[in-house]
Amino acid sequence: MNLQKNETNVKRWAESNADTLGFSGTTEIAVSYIYNPGGFVNQSYRISDGLIARHLKLAPAEKAHRLRLWARVSGLLAERCRAPRLICEIEDEMIPDYRYGLAFEFIPGTPLREASDPETAVLRVLELVRQLHGSRELAEALNDAAPPAPLTYGEAFVDAYIDRFESDMVSIRAGRHLLDFVSDETMDWFDAEIDALKHAALEHPAFQQQARDVVHNDLGWNNVLVDEREGSVWIIDWDDLSACGDAAMDYSILLWPFNNTPEWAKWEEKLNALVGDELIERLALYFRAKLLDDVIDILADYVDAEPIPELKEQVQARTKAIHLDAYPKYVSLYGKDPN
Ligand SMILES: Nc1ncnc2c1ncn2[C@@H]1O[C@H](COP(=O)(O)OP(=O)(O)O)[C@@H](O)[C@H]1O
Ligand SMILES: [Mg+2]
Repeated sequence: MNLQKNETNVKRWAESNADTLGFSGTTEIAVSYIYNPGGFVNQSYRISDGLIARHLKLAPAEKAHRLRLWARVSGLLAERCRAPRLICEIEDEMIPDYRYGLAFEFIPGTPLREASDPETAVLRVLELVRQLHGSRELAEALNDAAPPAPLTYGEAFVDAYIDRFESDMVSIRAGRHLLDFVSDETMDWFDAEIDALKHAALEHPAFQQQARDVVHNDLGWNNVLVDEREGSVWIIDWDDLSACGDAAMDYSILLWPFNNTPEWAKWEEKLNALVGDELIERLALYFRAKLLDDVIDILADYVDAEPIPELKEQVQARTKAIHLDAYPKYVSLYGKDPN
């Protein structure tokens, strides 16, 4: 990946599409790549003509269908869920292998993880996602766009986490030689733990119902932007939107930073008032999977960064630190260390 060349290509594309983007065409367009510590499968760019700014999100072929689905319901999401407004779909391959993308209004916000008052923002998001989860209007729009196969909550859990862990293990094994800080016993333990979690979800009584919640599925604190002046929140990154998901997934990711802290009891009480007991039971397994994500999925990011010289050092330092912090935490909370 040559970031400078990519920025130049994006700039050229923006110059030829200035009208569609709402740019005046008379001022210089500036483009900057957005480094996203949460992942680098998609590519994001900020483009601006000095007056108006847009956010560009470009997807490789295997992720394009997710962005297409988002585009289909983007009007409803903007109206009901504080999602950024879609400006246009992009079918031009301005960067090799990134053949589809979306341009959005640029939100002048601070990511929730850096916000000065995250608690107030989380309360706002809780209210928004509660409406999202029960929205029949969005469920119908999503079903029309791509009729989903019916899933139980257990299968939705497998979809959300187990499939990812299993494909992570393929990358991790391929890059095994890079991971000198992970022992062979730990590698075997990953496989056993993924399997244990899969069976726990598929067999648990609280996971047997049909999963019909409309969920964002990636509601981490990087994907909520807070406009500190207005006190408003925005929810971005709707790539994993689904009409057959589990509301517990969204709550677990949104409330994750409070889990295992002294404030958790207060948040659990708030959540209890919003949702039923069964969801709270499923939440426990989602929290467990979320921590395992920081043990396993993060190592796939470590391996994937190897061929990207511009990101390698930064990504590998960060992902290794996350893994080394999460692994002993996970073992002390849930399982046995094989070493
Ligand atoms: N509409 C937007 N306005 C401003 N910044 C945005 C917008 N959408 C995304 N971003 C920024 O770009 C980053 C990456 O975008 P995101 O859609 O979350 O991509 P990814 O799928 O790679 O996580 C976000 O964390 C956020 O900082
Ligand atoms: Mg994101």
